[in-house]
Amino acid sequence: MECGEYVVMPGFVDSHTHLVFAGGRDEEFAMRSAGLTYQEIASQGGGILNTVKAVRSSTKKELKKTSRKYLAAMLRHGSTTVEIKSGYGLDMDNEVKMLETIAELSKEEVIGIIPTFLGAHALPPEFKSDIDGYVREINGRMLPYVAEHKLSRFCDVFCENGYFGLREAASILTQGQALGLTAKLHAEELSPLGGAELAARFHAASADHLEHITERGIHALAAEGVVGVLLPGVSFFLNHKFAPARDMIDAGVAVALATDFNPGSCMSYSIPLMMTIACTHMQMTPEEAIVASTLNAAAALQMSDHIGSLEVGKRADILLLQIPNYRYLAYHFGENHVDRVIKDGVVLEF
Ligand code: NIG
Ligand code: FE
Repeated sequence: MECGEYVVMPGFVDSHTHLVFAGGRDEEFAMRSAGLTYQEIASQGGGILNTVKAVRSSTKKELKKTSRKYLAAMLRHGSTTVEIKSGYGLDMDNEVKMLETIAELSKEEVIGIIPTFLGAHALPPEFKSDIDGYVREINGRMLPYVAEHKLSRFCDVFCENGYFGLREAASILTQGQALGLTAKLHAEELSPLGGAELAARFHAASADHLEHITERGIHALAAEGVVGVLLPGVSFFLNHKFAPARDMIDAGVAVALATDFNPGSCMSYSIPLMMTIACTHMQMTPEEAIVASTLNAAAALQMSDHIGSLEVGKRADILLLQIPNYRYLAYHFGENHVDRVIKDGVVLEF
C-alpha cells in the first residue's frame, strides 16, 4: 500500500468511556447553558441516575444497537481500541446486562473493546440512604459474579463527595483485588478527596479525571507508576477546572488522554478534539498529546505490550491521516483527518 502523502501513526486508544448507554441528556445540557451546574442537576435526581433509568428499561439488543452506531463512528475517528465501563445499571441484573452487552459487542465488532466494572458509579434509588448496604451488594454479590464469569479485568469506583468516599472505595477495591481485578479510580474530579493517593496505594492501572489533584497526589501517582488518565472534554463540556497536566508530566506521571464519552459530562468520542483541548488549555505539547492518546493510553489498560505504538510484535492498528504533518492533528480541529484505518492488519472499508 502506497502511504507517501499520509501521516502514518498508531490507532488511538480511548482508555476511559461510558459508551454503552440509552437515551440522551440534552435537556441537562440546556439547563447547564442556562446556569445550573452538573452537581445541582445531579442532586435534583438528574445526572447519572437519569441514564440509569433509561438503561434499566432497555434490552441488551437495544443497547447494542445504539452502541454499534457510536463504535463505528469512533473507529472512523481513529480509535482502534476503546475501554467501556458499566455503571448505568447499579443492580445485579442491570450491571450484568451492561457487561454482557459489552462482551457481545467485543466479539462482534472490529474495534478492540476492554470492559470495566463500575458498579460503584452512583448510589441507586433502592439504597438512597444506605451506602453500606449497596457496598455490601457490590462486594458480596456483584464482584464475585463479575470475577467468576470473567466479565471484567478492572474494578473502578467514582470516588467523590455524594458518591463513594475513600472508605467505601477502599473496601470495593480491596474486594476487587481479592477476586483478581485490577483497580482503576475516578479520582479528584470535583474535589480533592485524596483519591489519587488511594489509587497509588492499590497500585491501580490508572487514576482518572484528576482535575483537583494535589501535589501529594501527583507524587503518589509518579512513585507508584499509576497512569493519570486526563479527560479534557469533561472540563470543556461542564466548564470545570482543567487537570494540571503540565505539573503531572513534569513530576514524572505517565499521562493519558481519553474522551470519557458519556451522555452527561462529555458527548464526544473524538480523540483529536481532546488533543486540541489538551494543547490549548492544559499546556501539553502536540507530541505529548499523541503519546497520551496512544502508548500511555495503552498502559492505562495494561496493554502496552500489544497496542499503542507501531512496533514489530504489536498489533497492526494503524491510521493514515491526510494532513501535512502530525501537528495538524491537534492544530486543525473540528475536522476528521482520518482517511484510512487498519485494524489488526486489515484495511477497513467505511
Ligand atoms: O466520568 N464522573 C463520573 N462519571 C462520568 C459521568 C457520567 C454521567 O454523567 O453520566 C464521568 O464524568
Ligand atoms: Fe468516567
